[in-house]
Amino acid sequence: MRLGLAVPTLILSTLLSHVAFALTITLPEETVEYRIGPGVDLARSYCMGCHSADYVLTQPPGMPRSFWEAEVNKMKKVFGAPLPDDQVTPLVDYLVRTYSVH
Ligand code: HEC
Repeated sequence: MRLGLAVPTLILSTLLSHVAFALTITLPEETVEYRIGPGVDLARSYCMGCHSADYVLTQPPGMPRSFWEAEVNKMKKVFGAPLPDDQVTPLVDYLVRTYSVH
């Protein structure tokens, strides 16, 4: 008798907790793209091979140029981002212009 009630209750609560879990997930779709602006093509070409634009977007606002220079150089030299030398400055320009002012 007791077991007869406990098993359906367990199944029901398990099902309910899964439903609640599924309902609370929201994907931040709007952050997977780089913000539109002059130079966005560089970011799309060289900065999406390993991670989404979230990594850039989640940096604190108002960071100085030196921060973005260090980031881009780290991606290139430490992680091996395939960014040509002559594209470093234009890409840093884009990042500063697009992400440091917001
Ligand atoms: C070859 C792979 C690769 C490419 C290409 C790449 N990244 Fe990354 N990036 C990483 C990895 C790995 C991390 C996580 C580093 C960590 O956890 O310390 C990261 C993290 C970041 C972060 C978070 C802050 C940090 O330093 O951890 C930013 C911002 C970032 N990348 C920007 C860029 C930009 C801008 C580009 C385009 C030049 C780029 N990434 C291209 C591998 C890459």
